[in-house]
Amino acid sequence: MNSKFEQPNTVLDGNIPEPCANQSDNRHFADIIQARFSRRAMLQGSLGVAAVGFLGGTLAACGGDSSSSRRKAGLGFEAIPAGRDDAIVVPEGYTARAFLPWGTPILGSMPAYMDDGSNTGADQAEQMGSHHDGIHYFPIDDSSDHGLLVMNHEYVDKKVIHAAGPSARPRPLDEVRKEMNAHGVSVVEIQKSANGEWEMLNNGRNRRITAFTEMEIAGPARGSELLATAFSPNATRTRGTLNNCGSGFTPWGTYLISEENWAGYFHPDASIDPMPRELARYSVSGWQGNFWYDAQEGGVVTADDNFSRFLTAATGADASEDFRNEPNNFGWLVEFDPFDPNSVPKKRTAMGRFAHEGVVPVQAVVGKPVVFYSGDDSTNEYVYKYVSNANYEEGMTGDDLLDDGTLYVARFNDDGTGEWLALDFDDVGFQADMSESPIKFTSQADVLVNTRSAADMRGATPMDRPEWGAVNPVTNEVYFTLTNNSGRQVADEANPRVLNRTGHIIRWNEDGEPAAAAFTWDIFVFGGRDQQHLKGYVPSAGEYLDEDNYFASPDGLLYDESGILWIQTDMSGSQQDGSGPDGDFGNNQMLAAIPETGEIKRFLVGPMDCEVTGVTLTPDHKTMFINIQHPGDRSEPGNFTSHWPSGMAGARPRSSTVVITKDDGGVIGL
Ligand code: FEO
Ligand code: CA
Ligand code: CA
Ligand code: CA
Repeated sequence: MNSKFEQPNTVLDGNIPEPCANQSDNRHFADIIQARFSRRAMLQGSLGVAAVGFLGGTLAACGGDSSSSRRKAGLGFEAIPAGRDDAIVVPEGYTARAFLPWGTPILGSMPAYMDDGSNTGADQAEQMGSHHDGIHYFPIDDSSDHGLLVMNHEYVDKKVIHAAGPSARPRPLDEVRKEMNAHGVSVVEIQKSANGEWEMLNNGRNRRITAFTEMEIAGPARGSELLATAFSPNATRTRGTLNNCGSGFTPWGTYLISEENWAGYFHPDASIDPMPRELARYSVSGWQGNFWYDAQEGGVVTADDNFSRFLTAATGADASEDFRNEPNNFGWLVEFDPFDPNSVPKKRTAMGRFAHEGVVPVQAVVGKPVVFYSGDDSTNEYVYKYVSNANYEEGMTGDDLLDDGTLYVARFNDDGTGEWLALDFDDVGFQADMSESPIKFTSQADVLVNTRSAADMRGATPMDRPEWGAVNPVTNEVYFTLTNNSGRQVADEANPRVLNRTGHIIRWNEDGEPAAAAFTWDIFVFGGRDQQHLKGYVPSAGEYLDEDNYFASPDGLLYDESGILWIQTDMSGSQQDGSGPDGDFGNNQMLAAIPETGEIKRFLVGPMDCEVTGVTLTPDHKTMFINIQHPGDRSEPGNFTSHWPSGMAGARPRSSTVVITKDDGGVIGL
């Protein structure tokens, strides 16, 4: 999500800080890292053998060219410079093409996209949503030429989505309907045509999930009185998903939707005092930047509770008669089967309630639990791990594995070790901590609805806004972007920069199995420019970032099977145009890294005022799909700061997928 409605960078914009407040800390930290990396390198050495074998086998099976020698040679493209073009720029030898932009008709009556903004709310339900984000390619019959492309639509820009921007409140019902239908998820069947270009198919598999779609509540919080509403007094069903940021997938072929900044959509009843922690700890109480209530019909504020539920007033005798608990129905991971257009999405409450940036699986192993990581992208929030109670067996699904498991939260110790703290009401350590804490819980449902409070109680480490994670498919080493935290006043070793405006990427190895209770961590890279107060730096390589790879505010992440870590950025406007203290980074970008050597090269630069987010590859790694979100995000109605992807004068900016191929038909990045 862009800086427009994440917590604003209030501390420093336009006010250059004393540059080296943290430099001595950083040097001190670099020493620690140096020592730690030696230990880590030994571990990596033993795993490297397995890596080469795995990769050779995989690429040979795909008919690809050889792997390990090319892989050892590093990244096979020339880094591109940072830039400010209103276009996608990729290295020589690559082609990038916009695909499935916002408003593209994909199902039903296939309503044509109207660039004058005149499409209706009903049209929007049959078109690609807005603000493309997390994305995953599901092959059909293992094909790299035919599959389902599934992606999230995080939010809308009201100034762009409507013909002349948003109306004054209360707003016409259809304006709000259009926004709600622009949220959610798109499922699109795609195929590579004879000329090598990807095209959309319309065979009944395409689907939109929106803020209206009925869903089931699953897991320990199903039936909890904390989730009861007038729509579902027994708390088993709910409507819609909101602010769907990063995404994930499961070993059994389903897609996971994350719900990130859902808190901003609710307009709580100010007379509720004190605000319950289910709202207050999630900033539902004070942050109304994007709520969409105040829809009218026939001149009066609508009574249709599909819209009015976002005003969370306690008007009934109890929670089963109103929507005071509606915000508790959000903040979850939502699973659905993209291959069944009628599948009912399920909110998997066992995986916790917070501002889920995304979710990343560890490769499943038969006979072992399944493991997923998820970050809570808000200032000083936490990193979580979910471990199923059952061991994975062929044929198992989310009903077996995602409703019954243990949610853990991370504590990063200053000595480079870490622990996973169970958020489990029946856990001995949990009960011991609770007996000494003023924070109390009455059930596992209470723990999960109040995941942040439970993590507070257990002493988790507040992080610099955890965004995406990625898992090395060979070693299971985990990488996590910590995008920035300009408000950090007290550093620790895992978040070693005060006023961390440019972010870093942390990584860890579990002690043995992915389900382990402890880990060792270090920092892979610090964002920043070479000559600025927050220097970009790769500790393990002992190298500063330079013209080929400087970046800030890392966000999206993918670790592919060729050994490349893809890093996407969501830099603020002042980082992009250089008007702030951090330097001029140009437009948001995607970089490729070989973590084993510390090599990092800039691979893609996006159009004006966009964010680069979401990345997936076909199994043969010959097509990459990424998303460009909110190009032109400083636009005013009729005065757009980007015209991408059309490039035509006056055209609306449209979030869009981008298809990237190599002109020689080769593997992306090598
Ligand atoms: Fe939706 Fe944290 O980015
Ligand atoms: Ca975003
Ligand atoms: Ca971000
Ligand atoms: Ca993000």
